This record gives sequence, structure tokens and C-alpha cells, in this order.
Amino acid sequence: MSESSSAEIVIAPVGLEHLRQVLDLGYRVFDTSVKPYTSWSLTAVAEHLDSGDSACWVALDGETVVGFVLGSQTFELRDDWGYLEWIAVDPAYQGRGIAGRLVNACCEALFAGGASRVVTDVESSNNASATLMSRNGFAPAVTVTLFVRSSQPDAEPTRNIPGASKRHLIRSGRLVGDHRPAG
Ligand SMILES: CC(C)(COP(=O)(O)OP(=O)(O)OC[C@H]1O[C@@H](n2cnc3c(N)ncnc32)[C@H](O)[C@@H]1OP(=O)(O)O)[C@@H](O)C(=O)NCCC(=O)NCCS
Repeated sequence: MSESSSAEIVIAPVGLEHLRQVLDLGYRVFDTSVKPYTSWSLTAVAEHLDSGDSACWVALDGETVVGFVLGSQTFELRDDWGYLEWIAVDPAYQGRGIAGRLVNACCEALFAGGASRVVTDVESSNNASATLMSRNGFAPAVTVTLFVRSSQPDAEPTRNIPGASKRHLIRSGRLVGDHRPAG
């Protein structure tokens, strides 16, 4: 556990130099075998960096990324809604208000960019995330339950997907990028 106080943690715009650390921290804290984390990938991070969205921030302890938030100015086809898509804090730094600061930095940027509201999705068993969001001005709106039907109980996925469609599948969360196996 770091001895740094929360006040020493700096919230800064995410940059290319943070990409590797953001990606790795996400892989440590997200369970990429379950929704809504299945689309976590190099592509997911790089698209945010590529778009130049100002709603992406890192929490830094010196040079070390100890938290991040990735937001975008659009949510699906709604370009008047901002989307707080990914947020994570290193377990050694949790419970110190860092995520709250990241949420506020992200939302302020999205509202400043013209969003009329900001949406985020919280998995039903994620109490930390639900508490974080409700303490920071979010209220539950719509619940979506993912219903799953298997082909066979123990079937291993055997599809060999052509490269051309991979990018689309990674974006839609059906395939994991960064050479990682799908969950
Ligand atoms: C969710 C997460 C980002 C919260 O980070 P954090 O820096 O510990 O959050 P904060 O310290 O800012 O706490 C915000 C609020 O949530 C509460 N909280 C934090 N962890 C909690 C937990 N495990 N259970 C219940 N409440 C919790 C805090 O008490 C605080 O509420 P308060 O203001 O009433 O005290 C962190 O737990 C995390 O990285 N989880 C794994 C990744 C994840 O699930 N991300 C969200 C989906 S993309």
C-alpha cells in the first residue's frame, strides 16, 4: 500500500504515455469474462486516445497510473448524451475518493462539451461502482439483463474469425483484442 495521501494523487488528462499502464490496470481490475467488461482491450483504450476525447483522465501517483476514467462525447447513437464508459482504481488506492474525483473530472468535461446528460452502466453485483455513481449524482434509470443460451453445455468456441471483421467484434465486445483469449 502506498503512503501517498489522496491529495498527492494528481488527476491529469490521459496521454499516449499512459496507454500501457491504463491497459494493464484494466486487465487487473476488470473481470473480462463477464459483461460489461468483455470489450476491454487495446482497441477500447486506443479509440479513446485516438478520438482526442477530453473526458479521459488518469490518477497519477508520481509517474504511476493508479486510476483512470475513459468517457466519450456520445452514447451509442445519442450525440447529446455523454458516456462514462470505463473507470478503475488500483486496489491499493481504493477507498480514498480517487474514483469520485475521476468521475467529476469526466462529467465536467462531458457537460462542457455539450452533453445534456451523462450515462454509465453498472453491473448488478458491483456495489462499489453503484455506490460511487449514486454518491456522485447518478441515479438508476434502465435495467438490462443479459439472457444467455448455450449451444451445448461444454462447447468450446471453435470459430476462426477473419481479420476484417475482428475490429468490429472487438468494438462490440464479442472478441478480446491485445492478443488475449476471449473469456
Ligand atoms: C468502483 C471503483 C472505481 C471505486 O474506486 P474508489 O476510488 O475506491 O472509490 P471512492 O473512494 O471514490 O468511493 C466512492 C464511494 O463508493 C464507496 N465505495 C467504494 N468501494 C466500495 C465498496 N467496495 N462497497 C461499497 N461502497 C464502496 C465509497 O465508500 C464512497 O462512498 P462515500 O462517499 O459514501 O464514502 C473501484 O472499486 C474499482 O476500480 N473497482 C473495479 C473496477 C470497476 O468495477 N469499475 C466500474 C465499472 S467500469
